[in-house]
Amino acid sequence: MSAGRSLDRRLVEAAALLHDVDKLPAVRPTVADTVHGAGSAEWLARRGYPELGDAIIGHPVTRLADGPWFDRWFAAASIEALVVAYADKRAGQKVEPMAERFASWERRYPPDVRAGKARGSWRPETLAAVRQRAEALETRVCRLVGVAPADVRRLEWTGRALRLAREA
Ligand SMILES: [Fe+2]
Repeated sequence: MSAGRSLDRRLVEAAALLHDVDKLPAVRPTVADTVHGAGSAEWLARRGYPELGDAIIGHPVTRLADGPWFDRWFAAASIEALVVAYADKRAGQKVEPMAERFASWERRYPPDVRAGKARGSWRPETLAAVRQRAEALETRVCRLVGVAPADVRRLEWTGRALRLAREA
């Protein structure tokens, strides 16, 4: 790692693999009073893995829409939490530029230009702020780990793991 900082790779991998666990139908009802991400953290804490929570709670793209929440999180987040949140903005079925991830989200949840805000969509000014925060996240993570955004790749082991999961 650059800048003399170390990263707990096992923590990042575990958090990345489990970050969306609260979306599972078997899990969601057990953490019903939490927002996405916090539910995963709570569920994992109950099972003896509280250390994963901090690396998970900041990952949902909706956190980028809440300026005060994001600013607090961004100021205090560990490098592991930053990497997991950034990876979420780059990885769909494959690793892609953030611009493509956002275009995909915008297709699914088009910005609402009416006075009111439709559920699941953002006003254009919120979307602009979300993109700006995502870019700040990308700049910071890439600087911390010493890699250019265009050079971000999946770890080698994930190819085989994904193939095995698809075949299961
Ligand atoms: Fe998520």
